[in-house]
Amino acid sequence: MRAVERGVTLFDTADCYGAGVSEKLLGATLGKKRKEVVVATKFGVRIDRDGKTFFDNSRKWLDEALEASLRRLRTEYIDLYQVHYWDRKTPLDEVFEHLTEKRQAGKIRWYGITNLDLLERGIRTAPEGLASCSFEYSLVRRHHERQILSMTSDWGIGFLSWGSLGQGILSGKYGGAPQLEESDRRNRPDYVNFHGNKLQQNLKLIKAMRQRLGLYPNMTLAQMAIRWVLEYLKSSAVLVGIKTCEQLEEIVRASDASLRPEDVAFLERMTI
Ligand SMILES: NC(=O)c1ccc[n+]([C@@H]2O[C@H](COP(=O)([O-])OP(=O)(O)OC[C@H]3O[C@@H](n4cnc5c(N)ncnc54)[C@H](OP(=O)(O)O)[C@@H]3O)[C@@H](O)[C@H]2O)c1
Repeated sequence: MRAVERGVTLFDTADCYGAGVSEKLLGATLGKKRKEVVVATKFGVRIDRDGKTFFDNSRKWLDEALEASLRRLRTEYIDLYQVHYWDRKTPLDEVFEHLTEKRQAGKIRWYGITNLDLLERGIRTAPEGLASCSFEYSLVRRHHERQILSMTSDWGIGFLSWGSLGQGILSGKYGGAPQLEESDRRNRPDYVNFHGNKLQQNLKLIKAMRQRLGLYPNMTLAQMAIRWVLEYLKSSAVLVGIKTCEQLEEIVRASDASLRPEDVAFLERMTI
């Protein structure tokens, strides 16, 4: 609720986050404020009986998943319903057709895609009703930049960056041997920002960022990382996985700050 009071207007979740717990919490917390914000959720990641994850974008699952999300979120409509991952089985035009039917039924307002390059799939015009794309994107992860720039500029859709703080490495609080709780997801090698060569590169970047921070007396490293995404990719909104009210305050204050164009360019060059 503090986030709403502080002016946050977009909340991103997914049906699989905490196996539904994240959506339930968001629905219960928003309560009467629900209509004042944009609720974004996702479908397409399922967990089988053995706890193994698989992708499913079939009509049957979309029907079921959407109803379950609406119930958990305590809402009659979802503002932005995103295809979390494509299952590579259901033809994309069918997925978009099903989503369009859900729009017509008033259950979703817009739909989006995450982790999916439609241009690579041979789609040349924006499907009607597609409002956004989302990829992992930050100063430490620019892999999908070409696709993001093409889809947002050619199609006029929005972009949501996830992993905008590189899962926290861009806060600058972690050194060469990150101290993480045993259960922390970032101990896993697939969280590359916290391991090996990638960690070393990230620490070099953080050193360069700290030098530039000298020009911005009231700015923190996390704020600089967020500002860079917003200023470098103009049509973006930044998703940040905040854990505490202190982190919320820090991130919200980034909306009042700005970077000089030469510093945006400097950071861009540092991270090619
Ligand atoms: N579409 C997709 O497939 C997809 C995938 C992943 C995530 N997402 C979305 O993106 C959101 C954020 O992504 P993410 O969690 O992967 O990465 P992130 O936002 O880059 O990093 C989040 C972590 O950074 C640290 N942090 C946050 N605010 C901070 C602050 N002000 N100061 C210092 N540290 C701070 C926190 O960890 P510590 O404090 O413990 O360091 C937090 O858990 C998710 O909540 C989700 O909505 C989408």
